[in-house]
Amino acid sequence: MSCDDVTILAIESSCDETAAAVVVNGREVRSSVISSQISLHTLYGGVVPEIASRKHIEKINQVIEQALDEADMTLDDIDAIGVTCGPGLVGALLVGVAEAKAISYAKKIPLVGVHHIKGHICANYIENKELTPPFLCLVVSGGHTHLVRVSDYTGYEVLGRTRDDAAGEAFDKVARAIGLGYPGGPKIERVAAEGNPHAVEFPRAKLSDSPYDFSFSGLKSAVLNYLNSCQMKGIPVVQADIAASFQKAVIDVLIGHAKQAMDEFGMERFAIAGGVAANATLREEMRAACLEKGVAFYHPSPVFCTDNAAMIGVAAYYDYCSGKRDGLDLNAVPGLRL
Ligand code: KG4
Ligand code: ZN
Repeated sequence: MSCDDVTILAIESSCDETAAAVVVNGREVRSSVISSQISLHTLYGGVVPEIASRKHIEKINQVIEQALDEADMTLDDIDAIGVTCGPGLVGALLVGVAEAKAISYAKKIPLVGVHHIKGHICANYIENKELTPPFLCLVVSGGHTHLVRVSDYTGYEVLGRTRDDAAGEAFDKVARAIGLGYPGGPKIERVAAEGNPHAVEFPRAKLSDSPYDFSFSGLKSAVLNYLNSCQMKGIPVVQADIAASFQKAVIDVLIGHAKQAMDEFGMERFAIAGGVAANATLREEMRAACLEKGVAFYHPSPVFCTDNAAMIGVAAYYDYCSGKRDGLDLNAVPGLRL
């Protein structure tokens, strides 16, 4: 695709990071500023939507100014504004969308609403310059678990999605149950490194009617039941073993689905994306699975796995080049489907 000299200002505020970035021609990140609210939400053991929205309002102008400064640009250099319009927390999304619309109106800059999951997938284009569609992508984050066939830069087909908890959500809930706190993913990963992944055989859900769908709520319940039974029997709980065994169960399911899709669709490339894709054990096991199947493996750096605006700028570029434009009636859609 050729669409030259397009500079995008991107804004992301769907959950607990307020972020802005400047991206040139879809692949070149000139700046990426992320203001994380994690320490604030840690106090409550998870994201508090009302607090997230208020914090986004406080930070949004600051991150945009910083992103423009670091890129050595002003709004006059910007060709389009890309903003996450869903899915996510409605109050949080509205802050970014309202900000993007205000800039678009005041400076007469075209506006492009971006799907958050497309952004996560597009994060793979930032550092993997040779990556082009078609490819398969596993998106694993706090709110989503999707196996997607990426047919071209704007074409996405969902092969499977979670029926209940997302993979990252399961990490967060299990972390809370074993006393690790929020955010669960990185904490479980750290503790799991000291544990035995075969200590407890937790279930791996397989849905017979839909081979690419996921379910993690049974696994989460199995961990809670195991903790209860240990407590009742007076058996000491080894936190590291539970963390390692839980992490292994999640990864086994993700790898199983990925391998089946590689066999069925015969694609040459496989990518992972989303916060859970920052997990080093998942990355190593997915790399080995791809090697076994003769498929090239791609992943973003951890900073582009978790929420950021650079990935939104990449997705906005491809949407913009395909002619997508949104008006000032653009709204936040918390349950936006892919
Ligand atoms: O993509 P993201 O920043 O936000 C959403 O779009 O949901 O993902 C956040 C999720 C959280 O559930 C967090 O626990 C998980 O990603 N996560 C991890 C790791 N780092 C973040 N899960 C497992 N291992 C990690 N290293
Ligand atoms: Zn995300």
